[in-house]
Amino acid sequence: MEEDGWLDTTMVREYVMQQRSRPDYVERPAIESLLPNLGGKCVLDLGAGSGDWAARLVASGVASVTAVDKSHVMRTFFETHPQVRWLEADIETVDLSAERFDCILSVRAFHYIERYDQLASRMYRWIVPGGSLVFSVEHPLKYANSQGEWIVDGEGNATAWPVDAYLQPAPRIEEGNGVRLVKWHRPLSSYVNELIRAGFVIRAVVEPDFTELGWREQPTAAERNRRRPNLLVIRADKGTEV
Ligand SMILES: C[S@@+](CC[C@H](N)C(=O)[O-])C[C@H]1O[C@@H](n2cnc3c(N)ncnc32)[C@H](O)[C@@H]1O
Repeated sequence: MEEDGWLDTTMVREYVMQQRSRPDYVERPAIESLLPNLGGKCVLDLGAGSGDWAARLVASGVASVTAVDKSHVMRTFFETHPQVRWLEADIETVDLSAERFDCILSVRAFHYIERYDQLASRMYRWIVPGGSLVFSVEHPLKYANSQGEWIVDGEGNATAWPVDAYLQPAPRIEEGNGVRLVKWHRPLSSYVNELIRAGFVIRAVVEPDFTELGWREQPTAAERNRRRPNLLVIRADKGTEV
């Protein structure tokens, strides 16, 4: 068994192919709506994966992106770009200069981080005064219960999503197809309060619904997401009063 699924070639290839082929009616619109104007700015992408967000950001006029990811397998899917600096490193320990970035972006990576409290303080240091942090995580309701599956009735209809030990921060182990992922569950309040403690001003906390087009194209998935949100997206700024 591969102890870290993000180092498993088959799992990573499937993840990247799926990300690149499926329309995104939830996460990308939510993140784009929260990002500040980044023209000519320096961005740090934590848990950058195959670098697709980094590529999109430079295409939209960002001056440079520092892309951090610990997976050398993810890196093989990253197309080298002169404005993207790739750092194969662990978010928990990576050492970056103070006040170096106008914005930190992170897309579905912080639920893999054990010491989010420490990360919040380190991120605050890395951002310039007036800069922003925008990130998404899998919604804590999604993996509060380690089974991670809907309760179904005798006909297979989803009747409810089980929630258990919600307030208990703890690892949740996912195993399947010969790989293992460790997600660090914490309640929504922790995601917000650790940022406030670090000094950030919270600008938005979003549990994104599908877009109108998404509701038309994927009504079943949209309905499920409305019953139990898939994602939590937060924007926090350094030192800008709301
Ligand atoms: C769900 S993927 C998201 C990738 C990318 N942000 C995207 O939008 O497709 C999570 C990524 O976080 C990375 N990751 C998880 N824990 C990490 C850590 N401690 N340090 C660096 N990268 C990490 C994984 O290697 C993986 O590429």
